[in-house]
Amino acid sequence: MLQIAREAGVSLGTVSHVMNGTAIVREPLRQRVLNAVKNLGYEPNELSRGLRLNKTSIIGMIIPDITNPFFPAVVRGVEDVAYKNSYRLVLCNTDNDSSKEITYLSQLKSFLPAGILLIPSMGSTVATNSSGPPVVCVDRRPQGWKGDMVTVANREGAYKAARHLIDMGHRQIGLIAGPSYLTNAQDRLLGFTQALNDAQIPIAPEYIQEALFDRATGYSSAMRLLQMLPRPTAIFTTNDLMAMGALLAVRESKLSCPKDVSIISFDGLEQTELTDPPLTTVYQPGYQLGYTAARLLLERIDASKQPAQEIVLETTLRVRNSVANLNR
Ligand code: RIB
Repeated sequence: MLQIAREAGVSLGTVSHVMNGTAIVREPLRQRVLNAVKNLGYEPNELSRGLRLNKTSIIGMIIPDITNPFFPAVVRGVEDVAYKNSYRLVLCNTDNDSSKEITYLSQLKSFLPAGILLIPSMGSTVATNSSGPPVVCVDRRPQGWKGDMVTVANREGAYKAARHLIDMGHRQIGLIAGPSYLTNAQDRLLGFTQALNDAQIPIAPEYIQEALFDRATGYSSAMRLLQMLPRPTAIFTTNDLMAMGALLAVRESKLSCPKDVSIISFDGLEQTELTDPPLTTVYQPGYQLGYTAARLLLERIDASKQPAQEIVLETTLRVRNSVANLNR
């Protein structure tokens, strides 16, 4: 640092402010410091900088299921914001295991990250431990969480999906819900039941199946629904992985979608354009979810005392070919 100060003809304090971003330095002086850094080939030591500032340029992110294509889209939105603002992303996957989440939160905090983005697992305890860097939760609200939150309008999106089936003449509608301990799954179930209640369509309890937001349990739930009498004319799967399982169940049952059974889904993964038939689905903006959450985290890093915010992004119904029109 002393060499840089001499080379640039500035004080040691000015070099430190430029290197650590701890104060605004007027352009000519700032540029002289950066030129000296370049000429001397100086590589800042992140570790010593972190210890000095009690904060590094690391952003930690914890996701629940890296095998679900929805989450990499969210991570991509975060990474674009992190890179633009000279932060580095450390990504952890919990497999929806709350003990892994606790371990990762503790290990990440030991790296002195500037902040953490969390898509909580089942039974997340993050709300009980508010010490350490700012945390923004994404996609689902952990029990007791009062901090920053970025999600989508799950209830309204599910309402739109169910309303579309009703408008297309369906009255015997099955639902494959996500895990009841997740708030996004709860809200999608609420949107579905509200749409049927508003249309005064009775809901057969056996038509509501709870699954785990993955293809295998989407398949097994759909197989149960397809064997019921009367068989539902339509199934709303509340995420696209479960819809893939349901399509497989329809095929293996020697049935046809949408001729025998219509399917509508939620997420809007690109893969849903390639299924046979292409899936009608409610699109939620995964990339925008991550981008917005990362922007909010940067604001929180700079101004931690601001009141907590909840940002809710809109969903869009994408009509394709997996829902039959029974009105005809
Ligand atoms: O956990 C899986 C689901 O949660 C995703 O498919 C997406 O719907 C997210 O909200």
